[in-house]
Amino acid sequence: YTIAADKVKAHIQPTMYGIFFEDINLAADGGVYAELVKNRSFEFNMPLMGWKEQKKDGGDGRTEVINRAVERPENAHFIKSYITSDAGFYGFSNEGFRGMGVKEGEEYSFSVMAKQDGDTNVKLNIELHGDNGDIIGKAELTPTDKEWNRYSVKFKSSATTPKAQLYVWMSGKGVIDLDMISMFPEHTWKNRPGGLRADLVQRLADLKPGFLRFPGGCIVEGRELNNRYQWKKTIGPVDKRENIINRWNTEFKHRPTPDYYQTFGLGFMEYFMTAEDIGASPLPILNCGMACEFNTGELVPLDKLDPYVQDALDLIEFANGDASTKWGKLRTDLGHPAPFNLKMIGVGNEQWGPQYIDRWKIFTKAIKTKYPDIKIVSALGPSPDGKEFDLLNKTFRGLGADILDEHYYAPAKWFRDNARRYDNYDRKGPKIFAGEYAAQSKSTVNPDNKNNWECALSEAAFMTGLERNADVVNMASYAPLFAHVEGWQWTPNLIWFDNLKSYATPNYYVQQLFSLNKGTDVVPLTLNNEAVAGQNDSYATASLDKNTNELVIKFVNTSTSAQNVSFKITGSKGYQKQATVTTIKADDKDAENSLTAPTAVSPVESKINISGNTLKMAVEPYSFKIVRLKNK
Ligand code: AHR
Repeated sequence: YTIAADKVKAHIQPTMYGIFFEDINLAADGGVYAELVKNRSFEFNMPLMGWKEQKKDGGDGRTEVINRAVERPENAHFIKSYITSDAGFYGFSNEGFRGMGVKEGEEYSFSVMAKQDGDTNVKLNIELHGDNGDIIGKAELTPTDKEWNRYSVKFKSSATTPKAQLYVWMSGKGVIDLDMISMFPEHTWKNRPGGLRADLVQRLADLKPGFLRFPGGCIVEGRELNNRYQWKKTIGPVDKRENIINRWNTEFKHRPTPDYYQTFGLGFMEYFMTAEDIGASPLPILNCGMACEFNTGELVPLDKLDPYVQDALDLIEFANGDASTKWGKLRTDLGHPAPFNLKMIGVGNEQWGPQYIDRWKIFTKAIKTKYPDIKIVSALGPSPDGKEFDLLNKTFRGLGADILDEHYYAPAKWFRDNARRYDNYDRKGPKIFAGEYAAQSKSTVNPDNKNNWECALSEAAFMTGLERNADVVNMASYAPLFAHVEGWQWTPNLIWFDNLKSYATPNYYVQQLFSLNKGTDVVPLTLNNEAVAGQNDSYATASLDKNTNELVIKFVNTSTSAQNVSFKITGSKGYQKQATVTTIKADDKDAENSLTAPTAVSPVESKINISGNTLKMAVEPYSFKIVRLKNK
């Protein structure tokens, strides 16, 4: 192989490898959003889902679900409990999201909106129950007011379990109203109260992502327009964020998740702040007046599109405007005076057809007129090579679109076969955002799909092609991102978790190695003057890292045989004698990671000696290697 280290072919954008976030597979509620109580505000279609009435020590009572939709349409339900016995306790337990994950010695914060209904003095006793029903944490509080007020108390757990339950006991005859019954760990990401699970956000930070795309995915569209994602309803106090059913709630009959709702506790402010925390450029995707085509396919008439377009304009102002603007002031009031530096926005998720183009034109005109520097991400539909895809591709090129969002969920072989996909792309047209992709071991949306090494290795092969074409491919993200091992709808996914732990898949490690080793500029790596994309079942790319003064080689061997490879490097003054090699390999292409063997397939570092400007390396079967050579 030959590397021309002095012939820069393309600049690699800082955004090159990023993250796709969608609340699918309990990614947000039940996942990264650290709320432990399910259905905290009784807004599920069955308002007491997740809750169970309890009595002990002779306690008794009854409860009504009150609907105050006229007064509080965004948070209609609360419960009114009548405690009818002087003795004992009456109350409710909450099952959490497949249980509640709590840790020994850690502090938890319980909070509730409450009001005593009349001259009563109902007292609340909070208990955390462990695996055998043992009490592993407790606290008490007495709401004092006859008006709605928020009360909170902290307590510690004396045990670690992923399956705790919360008991809220009431005692003392009387009537009390309760809403927003909530419990959070004190330790969250950056210790923000009511924040995000620190271990899961750390997984994202460890990717050093160039961008964070949010909030989806199909949930942007909604099954019907009423249940589309509306960012304005996801900011400000959490009790004012209107809950809706999650679009993935009833998606798959064989894996139903009837308890899947969106509280929007992870809302747009949190998305922007997380992006900022982890150094990622924010990329919000907005509904373009179309519901999901796979469901109702509802459309907003073109002459009624204004509120949708206004949402996009207001979002840009919310992200970038100063405190003299309406939405910039709101961001400032929410505690973030500095702008979020939004540079791009997505119009529609997986949309197609003339209906999409018509709406896209209206959005684009409005956004570009007011914010000419904002880049618009346009969807190319769900399939890589379908009719709609090709048509849209042509149309958008004609319309001078900025960035095209391609999605590919395809067999592992497709990824290997498509490593040259962008080699001959039009360099003058729109840039490419590989916005959702993942190799499917069985078939798309098959529940038996695995995050196995063959898929991850094939994605690595494909990604050498993305990187080699970094002048046209500016962004890429694997999808979906997160999945709860007991509450998923879709597989494969990048990160799997339970209520306490998580593991990174082989696919995650591939993404991470590309991201941490992307370099700044592509240089040619060739075999007989050709890009390496399948010869000897190998795939390779090379880049310079001008920040660290290194040459970075990525080499993917998808064959069953080991290979002895040699790289002749020209155009360099020479390298330090030792280079660092990072390898991921597995003997078995079906190898996977799991909660019990989280790093079975993961990167290992070693050193290698270089002689002059030649690097010789033994490459194991089924392996992916990255070599970093430091210039002298
Ligand atoms: O990633 C899962 C789904 O796949 C996304 O919601 C959608 O955009 C795509 O079809």
